[in-house]
This record gives sequence, structure tokens and C-alpha cells, in this order.
Amino acid sequence: MPDYQPFLMERFMSAYEQQVEYNLSESGVHPMTLRQLLDIDQSSVEDLLETELNYPYVNGIPVLRERIAAMYDGAGSENVLVTVGAIEANYNSVRSVLNPGDEVVIMLPNYMQIWGVAKNLGKRIRTFPLVEENNWAPDLEELEQAVTEKTKLIALCNPNNPTGYILSETEMDFIVRTASRVGAWILADEVYAGAEQFTDTRTPSFYGKYNKVIAVGSMSKAYGLPGLRTGWLVAPPEMVDQIWARHEYTTISTTMLSNKLTAIALSEKVQPVIIERTRRYIRKGYPLLREWMEQQGDTFSGIPPQAAAIAFVKYDLDINSTDLAMRLIKEKGVMIVPGDHFGMDKFIRISYGLPETYLKGALSRIEELIQNIASPA
Ligand SMILES: Cc1ncc(COP(=O)(O)O)c(C=O)c1O
Repeated sequence: MPDYQPFLMERFMSAYEQQVEYNLSESGVHPMTLRQLLDIDQSSVEDLLETELNYPYVNGIPVLRERIAAMYDGAGSENVLVTVGAIEANYNSVRSVLNPGDEVVIMLPNYMQIWGVAKNLGKRIRTFPLVEENNWAPDLEELEQAVTEKTKLIALCNPNNPTGYILSETEMDFIVRTASRVGAWILADEVYAGAEQFTDTRTPSFYGKYNKVIAVGSMSKAYGLPGLRTGWLVAPPEMVDQIWARHEYTTISTTMLSNKLTAIALSEKVQPVIIERTRRYIRKGYPLLREWMEQQGDTFSGIPPQAAAIAFVKYDLDINSTDLAMRLIKEKGVMIVPGDHFGMDKFIRISYGLPETYLKGALSRIEELIQNIASPA
């Protein structure tokens, strides 16, 4: 077998997420039920029941592509490809853009999918950091140095997973100028747009700022509908076509029902209600987490995340982050993500966009274990 880089975080989730009592490893808000979704607008129920469970348009049903396009300035439905989650959009984008000898530049920390895919393709990967001391703002000088004539792709996650950092307009412009200097594509994973904590303004997309952008979105995070397995990408039509050619090899399409339910969720009537729900969860959950962190003395610290339902929390305990995560699973039935999965030990990623009693129940279990680690019996 050739060396293969598994997707550490997703492997970890697959192994344990269905076993634990409290799952604080997810990065989206608490999922909606089908009833909650359809109760916002009941006018589509009959149409759903009459739906033939056939293959849909493999690039996404027209009404859905139109609704997605409407979220991006200057985009039309010809710019949209509907995929099985953002994960497929990212994967097939990387495969479509990169040729032999091309290099990739990646923001770190990051959801490590693109890093792993590029590694498995044998690509040279250069990175630039988000800097904790600067409230997770990116080091743009390092970006500038990382981008060379061989750079074909700059991969970003904005708002960022795991830090929740949102790039400023100035930083976005700098990144665009840097990419255009060498003609590189920007792959902007924007799955947390809409899940902002401190502003009601949706995080702006990279789409429309430069002609070589692939912007990726999803129903999984900001909409609390991961079970639909609907994602998408927005890009120039020629690039959409190239990625679509790979989509046919990998998944053909997401399901007919997912297309229809996603179109309902992104309708003018329903979309704002879902986004408000998401922000309510985030804005109620983070103060609870913060208060709990403060109650633990100096053990935890962290920069308040600007978006997403996750906090990247630093801890001062004499234990490696994977060991801590495993002890939480085995001894307390609680799952968090170890910083090791982002190459940053002594951090954990904790989700908080969850019902209050669930979140508090999980945090009190974590507290029991950390007290035991801090002062073993
Ligand atoms: C930044 C980021 N991109 C993509 C994904 C995959 O999302 P989806 O469920 O839409 O495939 C995730 C899931 O955690 C994520 O955090």
C-alpha cells in the first residue's frame, strides 16, 4: 500500500461520534429536524410527497442553483455546481485545479481536508499562519513568501475552522493581489458564512473579487442541516464544467430530496429564519462556554470566535490533546477535537452551538476530568 494520509479528524469522528453521550466535536449548530424545517413554510409538503425519487439534475435542480447564485454578487446559475457536501466541492476542486508540479498554499490552522488531499496527491504544500497573538489574524508576509510562480492554488477557510476568525476586507484584498500576481486560484471554503457571532452582516465571499475564485458553501454548518449532505461551489462556468466532469465520476449528484429540501431552506421566506436560529444558538452558547472557562481558573484561555459554533481553546494541563480527547471519550462520554488534528497540541476545539442543558451537561463532565488531571487523587 502506498503511504496514505488519512483525514485524522474525520476518522476520529467516524470512530466515536455515535458512541458518546455528549458530542462537542461538531462545528455546526445543533441540527434541525425535518419538521422544524417544513414548519417554517408548509406550502411545499405536498410537492415533496409527490416527488419522484429519480436522479435530479446532476449539477443541482435549477431553482436551487438560482437560489445559491443569488447569494453571490455577479453569479448566475451557470456558476453553480451542487455537490455532496462541501467536502466533495473541495475535493473535486483540488483535483481539477492541480496539475503535476503545481504547489499549494494553505492557511493554518484549517479544516485539514485540502492539506490531506494535496499531500496524497504528492503536492508541495506551503503554509501561512493565523497568529494567536494577533487574535488569529493571518501573517500576510508569510503568505507573500509562500506564494511562488509554481503556486496554483491558495486554500482558505473563511470564517476559519477552528479559530472562527473572519478576514478583514483589507486582508481579503491582499490575498487576491497575491494570488493574481502568479495567476493562482483561490479556493475559499466559506461554510461558516452566516454563522457570525458579533455582527448580523454575512461574511463576504471571495467570489467576484477576482476571476479565479472557487467559493464553497454548505448546508451543514451555518444552516444546521448536515444530514442533507448538500454543498456547492460557485466558480467561472469553465471551471464549473471541469469540476462537474469529476462530480460524475465520484457522486453523480446529491439526492433529489436533498436538492428540494435545500431549495426550501434557501428560499426567501425560510433562509432568514434558519440563519436567525443559528445565530441564536451561537450567541447563547458562547457566553455559557466562556463563563464555564472562567470558572476553571487559569486552565483555559481563548480568543472569542467571530463566527462558527466552535471555540479553539488553549489549555494549561499536563496532558497531550489527543490523550485528553481519548480520556474524555472513554471516562466521561464526551467528545471534543484535539488540537493535534490541526497540528497544534495544547488546544482543543469545543462546539457550543447546542441546547443549553446539553452543553452544560457536557461541560460539567469535562470539568470532572480536568480536576482529576490537575490534582490526581
Ligand atoms: C471548513 C469545512 N469545510 C467543509 C466541511 C465539510 O462539510 P460538509 O458537511 O458540507 O461536507 C467541514 C465540516 O466540518 C468544514 O468544517
